[in-house]
Amino acid sequence: MKTFVSALMVLMLAAASQSARADEVAERGRYLSVAADCVACHTSPKQGKPYAGGYAIASPLGEIWASNITPSKSHGIGLYSEDDFAKAVREGVRKDGAHLYPAMPYTSYAKLTDEDIHALYTYFMKDVAPVDEEAHATELPFPFSIRQSMAVWNLLFLDKETFKPDAGKSAQWNRGAYLVEGLAHCSSCHSPRGLMMQEVGGKAFAGGSLGDWYAPNITSHPVSGVGGWSDAELAQYLKTGRVAGKAQAGGGMAEAVSNSLSKLQDEDIAAIVAYLRTVPAVADPDATRAAFAWGDAAAAPGEQPVRGTGAALASGGVLYSGLCASCHGSRGEGSRDGYYPSLVHNTTVGMTRPQNLIATIIGGVDRDVQGEHALMPHFSKGSFVQDLSDADIAAVATYVRTQFGPGDQVTEAQVALTRAGGEKPLLAKIARLWLPMLIVAVLALVGVVLLARRAWKKRKDRRAAA
Ligand code: HEC
Ligand code: HEC
Ligand code: HEC
Repeated sequence: MKTFVSALMVLMLAAASQSARADEVAERGRYLSVAADCVACHTSPKQGKPYAGGYAIASPLGEIWASNITPSKSHGIGLYSEDDFAKAVREGVRKDGAHLYPAMPYTSYAKLTDEDIHALYTYFMKDVAPVDEEAHATELPFPFSIRQSMAVWNLLFLDKETFKPDAGKSAQWNRGAYLVEGLAHCSSCHSPRGLMMQEVGGKAFAGGSLGDWYAPNITSHPVSGVGGWSDAELAQYLKTGRVAGKAQAGGGMAEAVSNSLSKLQDEDIAAIVAYLRTVPAVADPDATRAAFAWGDAAAAPGEQPVRGTGAALASGGVLYSGLCASCHGSRGEGSRDGYYPSLVHNTTVGMTRPQNLIATIIGGVDRDVQGEHALMPHFSKGSFVQDLSDADIAAVATYVRTQFGPGDQVTEAQVALTRAGGEKPLLAKIARLWLPMLIVAVLALVGVVLLARRAWKKRKDRRAAA
């Protein structure tokens, strides 16, 4: 009897420690899902249920809707094995074999280790509530509706190698590299994209257009990138989304900070900063001064030089006094407590392109970080302040750029373009013409050649081994 009881106790203890271990793994998976910001795309911003889909990613080719990735057996990934999950997250292939569009950042997640995939899978299956609701379907125009064309794209642009630490670098640097290049997928926004929408090699983190917003150059370049920021400033920006005298996070960066970066451990933020320091500098030939270095912060009232003349600038000045000065100050100095940021020494005002300044006026700022809310009203349709026309926005933006920034003229056409979602890449412009068919045909041909070469090399290796 005694031995039976003690055997039972050993068994119970073993079961308890196993479930504690599973809890631990799921908890690590939860943290990884935060660092990877899975929730940002897979949850509807309209108070959607977590991970049930319903968020449209505006791609230049059309809207791509994120799937329901709750463990629902009917509408989510409840029937995914861990292998299926790994294939979707790292290779962009669904359980049914169809290819995902790279709006799902699997090109970055390809770096994830098996251990981290296991933790993520455990978390999703164990701790995420299943939601039996269908997510919105994605319908892109032909030829992009052919998901199989992504197989060729992957062959050309997907690097399937998981992260390999660099033994010559510190543990902190390696952790940073893993976060920046993999989990936190910074490059998916901050790297420029080429003709086929791939990230351009050799120009990593040199700045990328997201349509309306522009994700700036964050290479180590002191003028074009963030080389002029201190470690503490970078860390504070990532954690809180605001650094006085440097920048605030709006657009997609506000979401990244709210959902993900503000919730990371300080060591992980420090690792990201350490890695960013070593990203090879890429110069922007148009940048003559760091974006945060424009404007005369020290000028006393009445001493701020009024630059430029002309009717547009005058009407921009009137608009600024009426609509912006109450918060940002008549000299752009911001409020004393810093809640309303200074527009002098502000990267959004000083960067080479006026795109983010225009996007801020059109869309406002709405960022919630650990209960701290940064809210600037928008000035487009439905605004509780004023719905500004393209001409008005061009005028006030020109005034702001002239008084506090590099002093270029912002045109109505630039405002109209940002309002319409930004410059379309060539691939999207030609989407409805014959050229994409030619591109697909050429890509298919390249694919066939690559596949044939791979098969030939395998056969050669096999022969060499025999
Ligand atoms: C930047 C947006 C974005 C982020 C971040 C993101 N996803 Fe996705 N994901 C998508 C989109 C969009 C799709 C659907 C793509 C399509 O239909 O081709 C998708 C599809 C998927 C699928 C395929 C499900 C199916 O059967 O359709 C899985 C699994 C998945 N994501 C898991 C994840 C996980 C896990 C994370 C975090 C580690 C994550 N995603 C982060 C955008 C994102
Ligand atoms: C969803 C797209 C997106 C992702 C993901 C993203 N960023 Fe950003 N980032 C932006 C945008 C857009 C801005 C400009 C925000 C503004 O000016 O209000 C920005 C701004 C920044 C800035 C300030 C630069 C300046 O000159 O003002 C830094 C630093 C930065 N991001 C670092 C990162 C890092 C590090 C990561 C990954 C951990 C990351 N970002 C992920 C879109 C993104
Ligand atoms: C009701 C107050 C208020 C008004 C009016 C206002 N702003 Fe703002 N503005 C803010 C707040 C709050 C932020 C965000 C601060 C933060 O991110 O921490 C902000 C941020 C900004 C930024 C930086 C955005 C970024 O993402 O980098 C710019 C540029 C800006 N405002 C310009 C303007 C202009 C131009 C006007 C007039 C057309 C204006 N603001 C009107 C409160 C205001």
